[in-house]
Amino acid sequence: MTKPAGLKLVERDADGVDLAFRADVLAGLAEAQKAVPARWFYDDAGSQLFEDITQLHEYYPTRAETEILSNRATEIAELIGEGRAVVEFGSGSSVKTPLLLSAIRPSAYVPLDIAGDFLRASSAALSEKFPGLPVLPVEADFMRRVELPAEVFDLPKLGFFPGSTIGNMIARTATDLLRTMRATLGEGALLLIGMDLVKDEDVLLAAYDDAAGVTAAFNLNLLARINRELDGDIPLEAFAHEARWNDPFARIEMHLVAKRDVDFTVSGRRFAMRAGESIHTENSHKFTKRSGQMLLAAAGWEPLARWTDEAKRFSLVLAESRPPRSAP
Ligand code: AVI
Repeated sequence: MTKPAGLKLVERDADGVDLAFRADVLAGLAEAQKAVPARWFYDDAGSQLFEDITQLHEYYPTRAETEILSNRATEIAELIGEGRAVVEFGSGSSVKTPLLLSAIRPSAYVPLDIAGDFLRASSAALSEKFPGLPVLPVEADFMRRVELPAEVFDLPKLGFFPGSTIGNMIARTATDLLRTMRATLGEGALLLIGMDLVKDEDVLLAAYDDAAGVTAAFNLNLLARINRELDGDIPLEAFAHEARWNDPFARIEMHLVAKRDVDFTVSGRRFAMRAGESIHTENSHKFTKRSGQMLLAAAGWEPLARWTDEAKRFSLVLAESRPPRSAP
């Protein structure tokens, strides 16, 4: 749903506390396996740390996806065709979005993001790069169906969801989102989606536990945010960043592991952890060709083409929205 004028997407209490953040943290810390949803990583410091991660030698996904977009631009453009409205789920990256837009000659670009300031800044930068292209940002939560601007109603659509952000969701949430994307884009739409691939465990672990400690800082920043925004007193030095490969689920998990017995308060509630217990902060699922296709098919997207980088670390899949049909 598009944000109606004057209505706040983020609900806050009288002290300015983000109610959804507090609810997620208090519920997650009360679980037997403590967990906080990964979306709360991205305050200003967390967003900057994520940008830094994308520049790391060990973090291959951004480079691999950029390589695909630049090396396979002609093939990608031929299949997509000209004149589509590109609807990006997220504010867009300063490198990948321009690569796609220059390759396919779209009629409009519609970035969807809940973070209004970031959305406006990245849209302004893009308008400057593509002076003739209508850029129509919509401040909205794309996990729900979004009403697109009237200017693009009659245009064929291409959804763009790079970065393998789909991998940060468990299967049920990922399927719900992919279905919601179909509802937002309409029948006949195309979707270009990044999906990171299963690979050597050591390569994956290094990508999520880099030598310079940037990913560790990114993970620990979540505790700093909880302390600052939710009146917490979590001792940061009592926690260590850990990346784990969960083979049955084909995913990297990030945890914050208590180095000693620790207790702390958040929003007036007391929590205790034993040494070795962890707060689970992120899943990053990795796909095979088959598991990626299955996920897309489960949500009504039929893969049309798939590209990988030279080293086969990352894939970009082009899929088409298909109406449900009778099947045995
Ligand atoms: C945003 N997302 C796709 C990243 C990933 O690779 O799962 C987030 C990230 N977490 C640690 N490093 C990067």
